[in-house]
Amino acid sequence: MSVADRRPDSMQRITSLELANAFISEQIEALRAQIGSKKVLLALSGGVDSSVVAALLIKAVGQQLVCVHVNHGLLRKGEPEQVIEVFRGQMNANLIYVDATDRFLDKLAGVSDPETKRHIIGEEFIDVFAEEARKLTDVDFLAQGTIWPDILESEAGIKAHHNAGGLPADIADRFELVEPVKILFKDEVRVVGRALGLPDNMVDRQPFPGPGLGVRCPGAITRDRLEAVREADAILREEFAKNGLEGKVWQYFTVVPDFKSTGIKNGKRTFEWPCIIRAINTTDVMEVTVEHLPAELIDHLVKRITTEVEGINRVLYDYTPKPPATVEYE
Ligand code: XMP
Repeated sequence: MSVADRRPDSMQRITSLELANAFISEQIEALRAQIGSKKVLLALSGGVDSSVVAALLIKAVGQQLVCVHVNHGLLRKGEPEQVIEVFRGQMNANLIYVDATDRFLDKLAGVSDPETKRHIIGEEFIDVFAEEARKLTDVDFLAQGTIWPDILESEAGIKAHHNAGGLPADIADRFELVEPVKILFKDEVRVVGRALGLPDNMVDRQPFPGPGLGVRCPGAITRDRLEAVREADAILREEFAKNGLEGKVWQYFTVVPDFKSTGIKNGKRTFEWPCIIRAINTTDVMEVTVEHLPAELIDHLVKRITTEVEGINRVLYDYTPKPPATVEYE
Protein backbone atom coordinates (compact mmCIF):
# COMPACT_ATOMS: atom_id res chain seq x y z
CA MET A 1 0.00 0.00 0.00
CA SER A 2 1.39 3.41 -0.89
CA VAL A 3 0.03 6.96 -0.76
CA ALA A 4 -1.22 7.95 -4.23
CA ASP A 5 0.97 10.66 -5.73
CA ARG A 6 -1.77 12.13 -7.82
CA ARG A 7 -5.52 12.27 -7.49
CA PRO A 8 -6.87 9.61 -9.86
CA ASP A 9 -9.36 11.05 -12.39
CA SER A 10 -11.82 8.35 -11.38
CA MET A 11 -11.65 9.14 -7.65
CA GLN A 12 -15.07 9.57 -6.10
CA ARG A 13 -15.56 12.85 -4.23
CA ILE A 14 -15.54 12.20 -0.46
CA THR A 15 -18.88 13.60 0.62
CA SER A 16 -20.08 11.14 3.28
CA LEU A 17 -18.83 9.76 6.57
CA GLU A 18 -18.77 6.32 4.98
CA LEU A 19 -16.44 7.39 2.16
CA ALA A 20 -14.32 9.32 4.67
CA ASN A 21 -13.94 6.23 6.86
CA ALA A 22 -12.83 4.17 3.86
CA PHE A 23 -10.22 6.85 3.02
CA ILE A 24 -9.06 6.94 6.65
CA SER A 25 -8.59 3.14 6.81
CA GLU A 26 -6.56 3.17 3.59
CA GLN A 27 -4.41 6.05 4.75
CA ILE A 28 -3.74 4.49 8.14
CA GLU A 29 -2.40 1.38 6.41
CA ALA A 30 -0.34 3.45 3.98
CA LEU A 31 1.07 5.64 6.78
CA ARG A 32 2.04 2.62 8.87
CA ALA A 33 3.76 1.05 5.85
CA GLN A 34 5.65 4.29 5.11
CA ILE A 35 6.65 5.25 8.66
CA GLY A 36 7.17 1.85 10.32
CA SER A 37 8.46 2.37 13.85
CA LYS A 38 10.14 5.73 13.09
CA LYS A 39 9.09 9.20 14.23
CA VAL A 40 7.32 11.93 12.29
CA LEU A 41 7.28 15.67 12.91
CA LEU A 42 4.39 18.04 12.14
CA ALA A 43 3.97 21.81 12.44
CA LEU A 44 0.45 21.93 13.85
CA SER A 45 -1.11 25.37 13.38
CA GLY A 46 -4.64 24.36 14.38
CA GLY A 47 -5.88 25.08 10.84
CA VAL A 48 -8.05 22.50 9.09
CA ASP A 49 -5.33 20.81 7.01
CA SER A 50 -2.65 20.39 9.68
CA SER A 51 -5.27 19.35 12.26
CA VAL A 52 -6.61 16.60 9.99
CA VAL A 53 -3.07 15.40 9.22
CA ALA A 54 -2.35 15.29 12.97
CA ALA A 55 -5.54 13.35 13.74
CA LEU A 56 -4.79 10.84 10.94
CA LEU A 57 -1.23 10.33 12.13
CA ILE A 58 -2.30 9.90 15.75
CA LYS A 59 -4.62 7.11 14.59
CA ALA A 60 -1.88 5.54 12.46
CA VAL A 61 1.27 5.88 14.58
CA GLY A 62 0.20 7.38 17.93
CA GLN A 63 3.13 8.54 20.00
CA GLN A 64 5.55 8.33 17.06
CA LEU A 65 4.04 11.63 15.92
CA VAL A 66 5.63 14.76 17.39
CA CYS A 67 3.50 17.89 16.87
CA VAL A 68 4.96 21.36 17.30
CA HIS A 69 2.49 24.21 17.83
CA VAL A 70 4.14 27.60 17.50
CA ASN A 71 2.17 30.46 19.03
CA HIS A 72 3.45 33.60 17.28
CA GLY A 73 1.25 35.79 19.47
CA LEU A 74 -0.93 36.68 16.48
CA LEU A 75 -3.47 33.87 16.87
CA ARG A 76 -7.13 34.44 17.65
CA LYS A 77 -8.43 34.33 21.20
CA GLY A 78 -8.59 30.74 22.51
CA GLU A 79 -6.77 29.15 19.56
CA PRO A 80 -3.59 27.88 21.23
CA GLU A 81 -5.67 26.65 24.18
CA GLN A 82 -7.96 24.70 21.83
CA VAL A 83 -5.02 23.07 20.03
CA ILE A 84 -3.60 21.95 23.38
CA GLU A 85 -6.98 20.77 24.68
CA VAL A 86 -7.96 18.81 21.53
CA PHE A 87 -4.61 17.25 20.67
CA ARG A 88 -2.92 16.83 24.06
CA GLY A 89 -6.07 16.55 26.18
CA GLN A 90 -8.46 14.54 24.01
CA MET A 91 -6.17 12.75 21.54
CA ASN A 92 -3.20 12.19 23.84
CA ALA A 93 -0.80 13.52 21.19
CA ASN A 94 2.86 14.14 21.74
CA LEU A 95 2.65 17.95 21.47
CA ILE A 96 5.39 20.51 21.94
CA TYR A 97 3.91 23.98 22.58
CA VAL A 98 6.19 26.92 21.91
CA ASP A 99 5.03 30.32 23.09
CA ALA A 100 7.15 32.59 20.92
CA THR A 101 4.95 35.69 21.37
CA ASP A 102 7.69 37.93 22.79
CA ARG A 103 10.14 36.90 20.12
CA PHE A 104 7.76 37.76 17.28
CA LEU A 105 6.45 41.00 18.80
CA ASP A 106 9.97 42.21 19.61
CA LYS A 107 11.06 41.61 15.99
CA LEU A 108 7.92 43.36 14.69
CA ALA A 109 8.17 46.39 17.01
CA GLY A 110 8.17 49.63 15.01
CA VAL A 111 7.85 47.82 11.63
CA SER A 112 5.02 49.38 9.62
CA ASP A 113 5.63 48.21 6.04
CA PRO A 114 3.11 45.41 5.26
CA GLU A 115 5.44 43.24 3.18
CA THR A 116 8.27 43.58 5.71
CA LYS A 117 5.87 42.55 8.47
CA ARG A 118 4.76 39.46 6.51
CA HIS A 119 8.39 38.61 5.73
CA ILE A 120 9.47 38.87 9.39
CA ILE A 121 6.57 36.69 10.56
CA GLY A 122 7.29 34.02 7.91
CA GLU A 123 11.05 33.94 8.57
CA GLU A 124 10.66 33.90 12.32
CA PHE A 125 8.16 31.06 12.08
CA ILE A 126 10.62 28.95 10.11
CA ASP A 127 13.43 29.81 12.55
CA VAL A 128 11.37 28.76 15.59
CA PHE A 129 10.21 25.52 13.95
CA ALA A 130 13.73 24.71 12.70
CA GLU A 131 15.12 25.21 16.23
CA GLU A 132 12.60 22.70 17.56
CA ALA A 133 13.33 20.27 14.69
CA ARG A 134 17.10 20.43 15.39
CA LYS A 135 16.47 19.35 19.00
CA LEU A 136 14.72 16.20 17.73
CA THR A 137 17.56 14.12 16.38
CA ASP A 138 15.63 10.84 16.13
CA VAL A 139 12.89 11.97 13.72
CA ASP A 140 12.98 10.81 10.05
CA PHE A 141 9.72 12.10 8.58
CA LEU A 142 8.09 15.49 8.17
CA ALA A 143 4.30 15.59 7.74
CA GLN A 144 2.61 18.40 5.82
CA GLY A 145 -0.98 19.41 5.21
CA THR A 146 -0.54 19.80 1.46
CA ILE A 147 -3.90 19.48 -0.35
CA TRP A 148 -4.70 18.83 -4.02
CA PRO A 149 -5.37 22.50 -4.97
CA ASP A 150 -1.88 23.40 -3.59
CA ILE A 151 -0.35 20.95 -6.06
CA LEU A 152 -2.53 22.13 -8.96
CA GLU A 153 -1.75 25.80 -8.23
CA SER A 154 1.92 25.08 -7.95
CA GLU A 155 1.90 23.19 -11.26
CA ALA A 156 0.03 26.07 -12.90
CA GLY A 157 2.67 28.49 -11.58
CA ILE A 158 0.09 30.40 -9.51
CA LYS A 159 1.54 29.71 -6.09
CA ALA A 160 4.82 28.16 -5.01
CA HIS A 161 4.10 24.94 -3.19
CA HIS A 162 6.72 24.96 -0.48
CA ASN A 163 8.07 21.50 0.01
CA ALA A 164 9.13 21.29 3.63
CA GLY A 165 7.68 24.79 4.15
CA GLY A 166 10.80 26.69 3.15
CA LEU A 167 12.88 25.07 5.89
CA PRO A 168 16.67 25.50 5.81
CA ALA A 169 18.45 22.76 3.84
CA ASP A 170 20.07 21.11 6.89
CA ILE A 171 16.58 20.35 8.22
CA ALA A 172 14.65 19.77 4.99
CA ASP A 173 17.24 17.29 3.65
CA ARG A 174 16.97 15.18 6.78
CA PHE A 175 13.31 14.35 6.35
CA GLU A 176 11.18 12.27 4.07
CA LEU A 177 7.83 13.98 3.44
CA VAL A 178 4.52 12.52 4.57
CA GLU A 179 1.50 14.17 2.91
CA PRO A 180 -1.60 12.10 3.70
CA VAL A 181 -4.24 14.56 2.45
CA LYS A 182 -2.49 15.67 -0.71
CA ILE A 183 -5.06 14.14 -3.08
CA LEU A 184 -8.02 15.75 -1.30
CA PHE A 185 -9.96 18.92 -2.02
CA LYS A 186 -10.66 21.21 0.95
CA ASP A 187 -14.29 20.10 1.40
CA GLU A 188 -13.10 16.49 1.51
CA VAL A 189 -10.49 17.34 4.15
CA ARG A 190 -13.33 18.74 6.27
CA VAL A 191 -15.43 15.57 5.89
CA VAL A 192 -12.41 13.44 6.84
CA GLY A 193 -11.75 15.70 9.84
CA ARG A 194 -15.32 15.25 11.03
CA ALA A 195 -15.02 11.47 10.65
CA LEU A 196 -11.83 11.61 12.74
CA GLY A 197 -13.75 13.28 15.56
CA LEU A 198 -12.31 16.79 15.34
CA PRO A 199 -14.60 19.51 16.77
CA ASP A 200 -16.91 21.27 14.29
CA ASN A 201 -15.40 24.69 14.94
CA MET A 202 -11.96 23.34 13.99
CA VAL A 203 -13.19 21.50 10.88
CA ASP A 204 -15.39 24.38 9.65
CA ARG A 205 -12.88 27.07 10.43
CA GLN A 206 -12.96 30.12 8.21
CA PRO A 207 -9.73 30.92 6.34
CA PHE A 208 -7.14 32.59 8.57
CA PRO A 209 -3.95 34.05 7.09
CA GLY A 210 -0.56 32.73 8.19
CA PRO A 211 0.52 36.17 9.54
CA GLY A 212 -2.68 36.07 11.62
CA LEU A 213 -3.86 39.14 13.47
CA GLY A 214 -0.60 40.82 12.42
CA VAL A 215 -2.26 41.89 9.12
CA ARG A 216 -5.39 43.03 10.98
CA CYS A 217 -3.39 45.44 13.07
CA PRO A 218 -2.25 47.65 10.13
CA GLY A 219 1.01 49.57 10.56
CA ALA A 220 3.42 48.96 13.43
CA ILE A 221 1.91 46.38 15.81
CA THR A 222 1.61 47.37 19.45
CA ARG A 223 0.53 44.96 22.17
CA ASP A 224 -2.46 47.07 23.23
CA ARG A 225 -3.84 47.44 19.70
CA LEU A 226 -3.23 43.73 19.06
CA GLU A 227 -5.26 42.87 22.18
CA ALA A 228 -8.04 45.20 20.99
CA VAL A 229 -8.27 43.41 17.62
CA ARG A 230 -8.15 39.99 19.34
CA GLU A 231 -10.95 40.87 21.77
CA ALA A 232 -13.13 42.46 19.08
CA ASP A 233 -12.62 39.40 16.84
CA ALA A 234 -13.69 37.11 19.68
CA ILE A 235 -16.90 39.13 20.17
CA LEU A 236 -17.63 39.06 16.42
CA ARG A 237 -17.13 35.28 16.25
CA GLU A 238 -19.29 34.75 19.33
CA GLU A 239 -22.12 36.83 17.88
CA PHE A 240 -21.88 35.14 14.45
CA ALA A 241 -22.13 31.74 16.16
CA LYS A 242 -25.08 32.86 18.30
CA ASN A 243 -26.90 34.23 15.26
CA GLY A 244 -26.44 31.11 13.10
CA LEU A 245 -23.94 32.78 10.75
CA GLU A 246 -20.96 30.54 11.56
CA GLY A 247 -20.21 28.34 8.55
CA LYS A 248 -22.64 30.42 6.44
CA VAL A 249 -20.60 33.57 5.93
CA TRP A 250 -17.30 32.68 4.27
CA GLN A 251 -15.00 34.96 6.29
CA TYR A 252 -15.50 37.63 8.95
CA PHE A 253 -13.05 39.49 11.13
CA THR A 254 -12.12 42.79 12.71
CA VAL A 255 -9.35 45.26 11.95
CA VAL A 256 -8.08 47.97 14.30
CA PRO A 257 -6.26 50.65 12.28
CA ASP A 258 -3.51 52.84 13.62
CA PHE A 259 -5.36 56.11 14.09
CA LYS A 260 -7.51 57.56 16.83
CA SER A 261 -10.61 59.72 16.85
CA THR A 262 -12.49 61.68 19.46
CA GLY A 263 -15.39 60.13 21.31
CA ILE A 264 -17.30 60.34 24.57
CA LYS A 265 -17.74 57.64 27.21
CA ASN A 266 -19.43 58.13 30.58
CA GLY A 267 -19.50 61.90 30.01
CA LYS A 268 -15.75 62.10 29.41
CA ARG A 269 -13.83 62.80 26.21
CA THR A 270 -12.00 59.79 24.74
CA PHE A 271 -9.39 59.57 22.03
CA GLU A 272 -9.35 55.96 20.85
CA TRP A 273 -9.11 53.61 17.84
CA PRO A 274 -11.98 52.61 15.58
CA CYS A 275 -12.73 48.92 14.99
CA ILE A 276 -13.58 47.89 11.43
CA ILE A 277 -15.82 44.87 10.81
CA ARG A 278 -15.41 42.93 7.57
CA ALA A 279 -17.74 40.06 6.57
CA ILE A 280 -17.52 38.64 3.07
CA ASN A 281 -18.55 35.80 0.79
CA THR A 282 -16.80 34.28 -2.19
CA THR A 283 -16.47 31.14 -4.23
CA ASP A 284 -13.02 31.68 -5.73
CA VAL A 285 -11.39 34.40 -3.53
CA MET A 286 -10.61 36.40 -6.69
CA GLU A 287 -13.87 38.27 -6.30
CA VAL A 288 -15.74 38.74 -3.02
CA THR A 289 -19.06 40.29 -2.08
CA VAL A 290 -20.00 41.89 1.23
CA GLU A 291 -22.37 40.12 3.64
CA HIS A 292 -25.23 42.46 4.54
CA LEU A 293 -25.76 41.90 8.24
CA PRO A 294 -29.12 42.57 9.92
CA ALA A 295 -29.23 46.12 11.34
CA GLU A 296 -30.02 44.83 14.87
CA LEU A 297 -26.91 42.65 14.83
CA ILE A 298 -24.75 45.59 13.73
CA ASP A 299 -26.23 47.73 16.54
CA HIS A 300 -25.53 44.95 19.05
CA LEU A 301 -21.94 44.51 17.80
CA VAL A 302 -21.31 48.27 18.05
CA LYS A 303 -22.57 48.27 21.63
CA ARG A 304 -20.57 45.22 22.72
CA ILE A 305 -17.32 46.20 21.02
CA THR A 306 -17.34 49.83 22.25
CA THR A 307 -18.19 48.84 25.83
CA GLU A 308 -16.15 45.63 26.20
CA VAL A 309 -12.99 46.30 24.20
CA GLU A 310 -10.45 48.59 25.76
CA GLY A 311 -9.30 51.41 23.48
CA ILE A 312 -12.20 51.33 21.00
CA ASN A 313 -14.72 54.17 20.78
CA ARG A 314 -16.11 53.71 17.26
CA VAL A 315 -17.15 50.79 15.02
CA LEU A 316 -17.15 50.94 11.21
CA TYR A 317 -18.53 48.41 8.71
CA ASP A 318 -16.50 47.80 5.56
CA TYR A 319 -18.88 47.69 2.60
CA THR A 320 -16.22 47.26 -0.07
CA PRO A 321 -16.18 44.23 -2.38
CA LYS A 322 -13.05 42.75 -3.98
CA PRO A 323 -12.09 44.30 -6.32
CA PRO A 324 -11.33 47.13 -5.66
CA ALA A 325 -10.38 46.17 -2.07
CA THR A 326 -8.59 42.96 -1.09
CA VAL A 327 -9.99 40.84 1.74
CA GLU A 328 -7.17 41.63 4.16
CA TYR A 329 -5.90 45.14 4.83
CA GLU A 330 -2.19 44.31 4.41
P1 XMP B 1 -6.72 38.90 -0.06
O1 XMP B 1 -6.42 39.88 1.03
O2 XMP B 1 -5.52 38.60 -0.91
O3 XMP B 1 -7.12 37.54 0.67
O4 XMP B 1 -7.90 39.32 -0.89
C1 XMP B 1 -7.68 36.43 0.02
C2 XMP B 1 -7.79 35.29 1.02
O5 XMP B 1 -6.50 34.82 1.37
C3 XMP B 1 -6.31 34.93 2.78
N1 XMP B 1 -4.91 35.31 3.00
C4 XMP B 1 -3.95 34.47 3.40
N2 XMP B 1 -3.97 33.17 3.69
N3 XMP B 1 -1.67 33.24 4.21
C5 XMP B 1 -2.82 32.55 4.08
O6 XMP B 1 -2.81 31.36 4.37
C6 XMP B 1 -1.57 34.56 3.94
O7 XMP B 1 -0.50 35.15 4.05
C7 XMP B 1 -2.77 35.20 3.50
N4 XMP B 1 -3.05 36.47 3.16
C8 XMP B 1 -4.38 36.52 2.85
C9 XMP B 1 -7.29 35.97 3.24
O8 XMP B 1 -7.62 35.82 4.62
C10 XMP B 1 -8.45 35.69 2.33
O9 XMP B 1 -9.20 34.59 2.79
